[in-house]
Amino acid sequence: MTDLVAVARSLFGEGKGLLAADESVHTATTRLASFGIPAGAEMRRQFRELFIGAEGIERYLSGVILFPESLTEKGDDKKPFPKSLATRGILPGVKVDLGLEPIAASPQEFITNGLIGLPERLAEYKKQGAVFSKWRAAFRIDGDTLPSAEAMHENAKRLASYAKEAQTAGLVPILEPEVLYEGTHSRQRSRAAMAQVFQILFSVLDEHAVDCAGMVLKTSMALSGNDSGKRDTPEEVALDTLGSLLEHVPRQIAGVMFLSGGQTPDQATENLAAISGRAKEIDAPWPLTFSYARALQEEALALWKGKEENVSAAREAFLARLAKVSATLSA
Ligand code: 13P
Repeated sequence: MTDLVAVARSLFGEGKGLLAADESVHTATTRLASFGIPAGAEMRRQFRELFIGAEGIERYLSGVILFPESLTEKGDDKKPFPKSLATRGILPGVKVDLGLEPIAASPQEFITNGLIGLPERLAEYKKQGAVFSKWRAAFRIDGDTLPSAEAMHENAKRLASYAKEAQTAGLVPILEPEVLYEGTHSRQRSRAAMAQVFQILFSVLDEHAVDCAGMVLKTSMALSGNDSGKRDTPEEVALDTLGSLLEHVPRQIAGVMFLSGGQTPDQATENLAAISGRAKEIDAPWPLTFSYARALQEEALALWKGKEENVSAAREAFLARLAKVSATLSA
């Protein structure tokens, strides 16, 4: 039987974190288009290969989250991506939710789909080499009204059902309740929304008897909304992010990882440095790390432009950013 606790903990190796390379077909297409790169299945494979195939990533990465289609795709080394990662000591994981859908009664908000047929898909992903999994829920802040109680409760129930199924299938669950950065809200409002989401989530996980030691929490940081006109200092972000986590996240979970959520690469690096530094000062109960998509990939994509001749410059930029982000954990 898989030792879920050991696998979950091994995602938090010294100075190591995750690359979230699990953009859906739609998100990958939009992301590539924003860099002027025409997308199709082969271009998406090259997009994954740009990062997964980069030499030396194992110094900084404990895991990579893949989109299901990448579990069976091959890198330029002719090995399936999960195999290519595993041979370098990097754990392959997979995004298993099927994306967001507006809530009928509150159409600005979302629920996450993907519970139907989940056990069968998890079994298949495991055979294909995945050892951990991820499910994302997203919460919009609007004044004091959103996120609504309905959105928080319904998403918490689905996260809990997912976590149970993943643990039963022998795949570590990463639960990602993302409080979105979009909006005009204050950092304090973001902190309060995160605390509320965590409180509801962990009480529902408890009701569903999810084994917290064999799961990971992936969260946003407490930030003023991107349209608020306010730029928080890293110290402010650290204080409020850890404040919300300490209120409601049990010490038993295997660890906490952060998404970048639309912050610039520098912001995501500086904020993580402050969070990590403060977590050490206060002796926070869980290990922390990064699980970034945009903040790790953006600079490389701008250089790559979908062209073979730019691959080495793009990989160099990716490794340089990985080194900076990783250094924040051991500073
Ligand atoms: P970002 O770091 O770009 O927010 O992506 C992380 C992620 O996994 C989103 O689901």
